[in-house]
Amino acid sequence: MARISPTAAATSNGQDPLAGQIPFKGNGAGTPEVIIEARDIVVGFGDRLVLNHTNLNVYRGEILGFVGGSGAGKSVLMRTIIGLIPKRQGTVKVFGVDMDATSDAGRRAVERRWGILFQQGALFSSLTVKENLQFPVREYLNLSQKLLDELAIAKLEMVGLDASACDKYPSELSGGMTKRVALARALSLDPEIVFLDEPTSGLDPIGAGEFDTLIATLQRTLGLTVFMVTHDLDSLHTVCDRIAVLADGKVISAGTMETMLASEHPWMRAYFHGKRSRAVEHAVPQPTES
Ligand SMILES: Nc1ncnc2c1ncn2[C@@H]1O[C@H](COP(=O)(O)OP(=O)(O)OP(=O)(O)O)[C@@H](O)[C@H]1O
Ligand SMILES: [Mg+2]
Repeated sequence: MARISPTAAATSNGQDPLAGQIPFKGNGAGTPEVIIEARDIVVGFGDRLVLNHTNLNVYRGEILGFVGGSGAGKSVLMRTIIGLIPKRQGTVKVFGVDMDATSDAGRRAVERRWGILFQQGALFSSLTVKENLQFPVREYLNLSQKLLDELAIAKLEMVGLDASACDKYPSELSGGMTKRVALARALSLDPEIVFLDEPTSGLDPIGAGEFDTLIATLQRTLGLTVFMVTHDLDSLHTVCDRIAVLADGKVISAGTMETMLASEHPWMRAYFHGKRSRAVEHAVPQPTES
């Protein structure tokens, strides 16, 4: 597999260091389409600046792994992109729509095209699985209860569960099932983009591996674009097309795993060449080029 030279991937020119300039190993069909564009994002809480002129591109059809130290601001950037955290500066465009400049209806039309799996509180604890799955659908579509029920079962099957889960409450589910139901809910409106915040955290390695496979399969079959915050090196090696690294409030690098491994940045060296990483590298079968 060709190595991207560190200089080609370097982001040390002091200007917008981001993925936009880095080739994405997608379907090879020319220039990839930027589906999410975050520019010059500044977010802070009181005196603490979390995102400091952050830039990030996400391309259609890719699985982007978003990494960075704990507290670096990964969830904050994800929540800023989806409009849950106000920013002090910057623009977010999704499907080319400037989310601050568009009307309420324009915003809702974009929101209808994404699904979200949050890091915490993935499901409403007082609602059954079925009600959880139907919640976002009811918000946007006026469907009969029969259709809603059929839809809920179809989504459960999509994530490897069946109708027997419908009437359970979240407290009755295992960690792995909870993640699957949360993923099913994120898929409930047939989104084009899914945002996943630490989807495999708390799962054992086998459960996490199965979940990764599920995400990759769904991405392929549904043509999804996946923005995945993760600490999971296995996920980064096995399912992510590209990785973006957040440090010091900025995306300091974005590119393939080869780009990450070639970086001289201290945090990236420690992360991607650390003991855990080496174990994963040796355990994960390397993809063969077609
Ligand atoms: N609503 C909020 N109010 C105040 N501070 C916040 C808020 N949300 C996040 N922060 C702070 O912003 C920083 C970044 O938080 P964030 O949750 O994005 O980290 P993270 O990179 O996702 O970390 P982790 O990997 O542990 O999930 C932290 O210092 C956090 O305490
Ligand atoms: Mg987080």
